[in-house]
This record gives sequence, C-alpha cells and structure tokens, in this order.
Amino acid sequence: MTAEFDRDEDVFMLETERILLRGWHEDDLHDWITMNADPAVREYFPSVQSPEKSVEQALEFQDELVTNGFGLWAAETKDAVAYIDDRGKPAILPPATFIGFIGLHPLPAEVPTDISYEIGWRLTKEVWNQGLATEGARAARDYAFGIERLGHLGSYTTADNAPSRRVMEKIGMHLEREFTHPTLPDAQKDCVLYAMDRHQWELTNQGV
Ligand SMILES: CC(C)(COP(=O)(O)OP(=O)(O)OC[C@H]1O[C@@H](n2cnc3c(N)ncnc32)[C@H](O)[C@@H]1OP(=O)(O)O)[C@@H](O)C(=O)NCCC(=O)NCCS
Repeated sequence: MTAEFDRDEDVFMLETERILLRGWHEDDLHDWITMNADPAVREYFPSVQSPEKSVEQALEFQDELVTNGFGLWAAETKDAVAYIDDRGKPAILPPATFIGFIGLHPLPAEVPTDISYEIGWRLTKEVWNQGLATEGARAARDYAFGIERLGHLGSYTTADNAPSRRVMEKIGMHLEREFTHPTLPDAQKDCVLYAMDRHQWELTNQGV
C-alpha cells in the first residue's frame, strides 16, 4: 500500500452546510480508532474493530481518494455541534472535529448486483440523528452522478440497520433487493441493497 496521510493536494473535497468531506489526516486516527472500538457504532457489524484494522482502513481510504479522486472521505464538522453525552449532560464538539466517513467505495463482490459503486457512512455516535449523514451523503451522491457521471449507485446494510436504511431512503434510494450475505455471521446475514440511477437523480433528486 502506497498511501500516506496529509496529501490533501491530490484529494477533491466536498463541502456542505455543516461538514467538510476531505482527505484523511494522521490526527484523525485517535478518534477513528476510538469510534471503531465503540459497541454502539459497531452494533450492526460482526464485532468491534481493532486499532490495527482501523489504521489499515484509513490508509486504504486515503489511497483510494488520492488514486481515484473520490472515495470514502473523512468527515469534519465546520461549526461546533451540540450533543447529549453518555451521562445525559449537554456537551459540545468543537469546530473542525473529525466525525467519521461518508463517501463512495466499490461494492464488494459478495453483494449480488452489477452496480459498481456504493455510497456509505459511519459517524461517531455524538453526532447521530442530526441529519449529518444524510447531508454528507447527498453531497457524495451529487458528486457521483453530477461529476463522475456514474450510471448507478448502490448501498447495502444488514436488514435491521434502521438508521442506515433511513439515510438511504432520505437520499432518494429505493429498496432494490433483499439478499443473504454469503460470508457474514448469522446475525448479519440478512442484508438489503438499496439503489438509484442517474436518470432518477436527474428527474427527482438533484438538489434535494
Ligand atoms: C447510519 C449512521 C451513519 C446515520 O447517521 P446520522 O447522522 O444519525 O443519520 P441522519 O441523522 O442523517 O438520519 C438518521 C435517520 O435514522 C432514524 N433513526 C435513528 N435510529 C433509528 C431507529 N432505531 N429506528 C428507525 N429509525 C431510526 C433517524 O430518526 C433519522 O431519520 P429521520 O431524519 O427521518 O428522523 C449512523 O447511525 C452510524 O454511523 N451508525 C453506525 C455505523 C453504521 O451502521 N454505518 C452504516 C453501515 S451500512
């Protein structure tokens, strides 16, 4: 793997009202490792993710961004974000805080479809349910259809991941198929694939 961090000059960035989608920085690793060790973030995955795997993934995502010009961007807040902490107290994430990823990635071969790219997201739980995944995903969707001129986009998750399915619906995707994932453990085998095509986006979702 050839990836290095801090090669932002080669990464196309996206900006929304509240977040910046940018390349990965070494400074992101602490928060990225912490969120992947959080059982809440990993509720719909087979297990929490090790620090080693998290670093490997961050390098892989940065490599993809540099090589393709798009991929799974690191997401950073623009302004402070208020949230309720684990003790039920109001708290604030400062501006320019790394909060996870949103972006585009090749769909794995295990997903039964001809669609090449998926749109995906994983955010730290402090910022959930404030519409940030949807906001970033709309920007990534508009980039995929408007700039890269992709014909189709997919997105898949385990059938019981209601928050992720809701984001798929809110960005204009429809349920394409239910399928049994061939390699995931029993608890995650029941999966759903959502999809949309550029024609649909042009007709209904551009700018929505
Ligand atoms: C999936 C995820 C990125 C969503 O991020 P988010 O910023 O909270 O998403 P949004 O706020 O844009 O939208 C979430 C929607 O799910 C809804 N939702 C949240 N929990 C829900 C639940 N248990 N049941 C049904 N809907 C739920 C919210 O109400 C919201 O819908 P609404 O706007 O219609 O009210 C975030 O939950 C996450 O990172 N989860 C862990 C990692 C993960 O599962 N990634 C996806 C793997 S495919």
